[in-house]
Amino acid sequence: MLGGDVGLELGLRVANALEAALDVEITPDEALIRPSAPGRGADYQCNVAMSLAKRLGRPPRDVAAAIVANLDAAEMVEPPEVAGPGFINLTLRREWLEDQTTRLLGDDRLGVPTAQDGTGGRKRYAIDYGSPNVAKEMHVGHLRSSIIGDAVVRMLEFAGHEVIRHNHLGDWGTPFGMLIEHLVDLGWTSGDHTISDLNGFYQEARKKFDADPEFADRSRRRVVALQGGDETTLALWRELVEESERHFATVYELLGVKLTAEDYYGESFYNPFLADVVDELEAKGLTAVSDGAVCVFPPGFTNREGEPLPLIVRKRDGGYGYASTDLATARYWTRERGATDLLYVVGSPQAQHFQMVFAVAREAGWLGDEHQAVHIGFGSILGEDGKVLRTRAGGSVKLVDLLREAVDRAAAVVAERSKMDAAQQEAVSRAVGIGAVKYADLSSDREKDYVFAWDRMLAMEGNTSVYLQYANARVPSVLARAGKQAEPGTPVLLGVTAERALALKLLQLPAALSTATAEYAPHKLCTYLYETAVAFSTFYENCPVVHAPDDRTRMSRLALAQLTSRVLTLGLSLLGIEAPDQL
Ligand code: ARG
Repeated sequence: MLGGDVGLELGLRVANALEAALDVEITPDEALIRPSAPGRGADYQCNVAMSLAKRLGRPPRDVAAAIVANLDAAEMVEPPEVAGPGFINLTLRREWLEDQTTRLLGDDRLGVPTAQDGTGGRKRYAIDYGSPNVAKEMHVGHLRSSIIGDAVVRMLEFAGHEVIRHNHLGDWGTPFGMLIEHLVDLGWTSGDHTISDLNGFYQEARKKFDADPEFADRSRRRVVALQGGDETTLALWRELVEESERHFATVYELLGVKLTAEDYYGESFYNPFLADVVDELEAKGLTAVSDGAVCVFPPGFTNREGEPLPLIVRKRDGGYGYASTDLATARYWTRERGATDLLYVVGSPQAQHFQMVFAVAREAGWLGDEHQAVHIGFGSILGEDGKVLRTRAGGSVKLVDLLREAVDRAAAVVAERSKMDAAQQEAVSRAVGIGAVKYADLSSDREKDYVFAWDRMLAMEGNTSVYLQYANARVPSVLARAGKQAEPGTPVLLGVTAERALALKLLQLPAALSTATAEYAPHKLCTYLYETAVAFSTFYENCPVVHAPDDRTRMSRLALAQLTSRVLTLGLSLLGIEAPDQL
């Protein structure tokens, strides 16, 4: 089968039929094979006849009939039917489905190909995610970047690509003058201390900066000292950075995302390259001076008045800003690290910034035809009042508080339903609580805002992680009751509708994963997992496993249950969510 993907395999067969019948060449993708809506009687629908009719100057039903007449897929599908204006309805043959599902049981990767043997080839991705700021607590916007970025990393790695994670820590720039002076005022020259409230620390420094001209003056001189590489200043700066990194490490740990201390490539990391980046842009004739600042005006970007928009690469005062740093990231990752694909998981308000950076990097030759640069944008998290999520007091919600609350709430849900010992309960509450927060985020289209609602994200019914975790946890319990499990090679039998529907879902994992990965759209994987869990519930209610009518049926149903659990566990793990054995 083509890359384990049922739809693509059908597409290939349709493409071959078109070539034989009408001498038309299309790719399997262009055959427009889509899963049919439930209740339509067929498994897949092929829409290519409608799209080709005009080009071929023939009625779509004729094109469809020609495809059907030449389709070489008798072992795979029942004799196809042309319906409506020219759809081709395709129903998989029971024997074919049984055979494919049986094979799945012996396949470690559940039918999912790896990049090396797939079509796209293996790429080297550099992905920017997390990216909080020093001396500030992470807020919920950083939550989205961390969670979405982590899922994208896991999906790409599973697909067989090389992935380099980097955390674009905001650890450089003018605020550090006041932060360091504040540190000095508090008498912390070095050594053992912790800043328990990083936000408070930042706000105090800010307040002094605004109220006290002498402090503001010192702060400005401190910025110069920092940029000039003054050793004492750098040592103080490092204290602040390390303190923040310790805080971030606890959040990443709690969240279960893969970011570690090695993944920091903060703004300061790119600082040594900035002058050269600007020199190179100047040498290539791409810059213009506007209001004393060195700018690039990439073609196609204008403001509301239709005037060209600048990307400021060196400010009037000679300093470099956010944009220069991001140009340096593009140059660094392609030139020094050989990345083919650059991904930036950052909120949608920065969309234009990234489009401009990519445009300039292309003009400068730092991004070539072989490179893709993608801004993986996302919307805001809203409170139940539909406004940006805030605490009751009106402050911004701290990530750590939110995650701890999730675990506490999950503990209440878990305690209500099960008889686990304390240690198990704790582990399960964590898996359920953190899973709920992550899944609520990942299951909604990332481009959109979504409402953060505890009750909905912890509901046992509906598209939630706890529903998936619960479906999955039924499998080990059924295996225990059966006292055996299906070994690879166990024939799968699909005589009952619910068995067949479940098997079809299980075989659709490669297609679902390939779309979710290619579009950086974890919600498409979530939808697939949810549909699989629903198909499993129907199967479980309608098809006795332990008390199956005979042993062959029992083993086949155990195989289906095991496959479901493997699909759900793998899917959840690619979202960064645990799948406990019991719940
Ligand atoms: N630190 C920035 C913020 O909190 C995000 C950085 C995103 N990455 C980048 N390469 N610009 O808004």
